[in-house]
Amino acid sequence: MATEIKKVDPGNKKPIPTDYSKLGFGLHFSDHMYLMEYERGRGWHSPRIEPYRPLNLDPAAMVLHYGQEVFEGMKAYRGKDDGVYMFRYLDNLQRLNRSCNRMVIPPIDIEQVGEGLKELVLLDQEWIPKSEGCSLYIRPNVIATDPFLGVRPSETYLFYIIAGPVGAYYPQGFNPVSIFVSDKYVRAVQGGIGEAKTAGNYAASLLAQMEAKEKGFPQVLWLDGKEHKYIEEVGTMNIFFKFGDEVVTSPLTGSILPGITRDSVIQLLRKWGIKVSERLFTIDDVIAGQKDGSLSEAFGSGTAAVISPVGSVHYQGQDYQVADGKTGEISQRLYDHLLSLQYGKGEDEFGWMTRLA
Ligand code: COI
Repeated sequence: MATEIKKVDPGNKKPIPTDYSKLGFGLHFSDHMYLMEYERGRGWHSPRIEPYRPLNLDPAAMVLHYGQEVFEGMKAYRGKDDGVYMFRYLDNLQRLNRSCNRMVIPPIDIEQVGEGLKELVLLDQEWIPKSEGCSLYIRPNVIATDPFLGVRPSETYLFYIIAGPVGAYYPQGFNPVSIFVSDKYVRAVQGGIGEAKTAGNYAASLLAQMEAKEKGFPQVLWLDGKEHKYIEEVGTMNIFFKFGDEVVTSPLTGSILPGITRDSVIQLLRKWGIKVSERLFTIDDVIAGQKDGSLSEAFGSGTAAVISPVGSVHYQGQDYQVADGKTGEISQRLYDHLLSLQYGKGEDEFGWMTRLA
């Protein structure tokens, strides 16, 4: 299925932000969007690129009532030789289909959407910031559109992709963040939807996030939903702790997001000969490690966050400083390496990069 392209009238083009220091995250959207619809019996159809516009949705659209939706997040970079680069975007589309499966949404054709995505990025490539650390964030979304209030999977869907220039996800940039460990709320439970990239997981995190923010912590570290002790993830990123010579992250238990950056970190650390384990570990292990000095560093990983060093962990009224509140050695090395790859400079040993232009 070829993608039809309807370009924005030159007079309606939006101004492209040029002050990259003020980009923030998720505030600006480029001139075009990709869309297609699904109907039972017909499948996905009418892939096209159109000028960015509001959606026309029935107020009874099922996504608005029961949250049947999935999304993704990926980035395009303006890098070496003024090229346009993307990082592991097909892995994101594959994960989108896994999320679709959990949310009973029909899967997309990855190759076709991948081509449409590239066309969108190329069409709006002027929007990709020319500054390392900034990128074009790309947000595919699938929503249930049946105008129906009974609870069942929708029979019609809208898939769309929007994009926009972003800077660092956290206002701190690449600097250590303090994270608040929630022992009051849970994000997800095994058997639930925690491993799907779907709106409900983010909605579930908002109250805890707001309460943490009021106490001065930008992010919440989630413990498992049953025993409230195993480290899971941060909601906007996966998390790694280094104890002695071992870097540890939670295994994919079903309640955490299988991050593409998480997987990249694991592969890179293994390649560098650094021991990395996906195993269960508890908040008590973190505190014990902080107290006996074996915990030397912690960091989060995610598409939006890239690598985010953790400067302290706050649990049950106590602050536990990590790496003297500074950026650890491995966090710095991973950050530098990922950026160098993503901007087309480093050697792409794993075949993660695609140059679009
Ligand atoms: C991402 O890292 O791309 C995310 O989707 C996290 C967050 C912005 C929701």
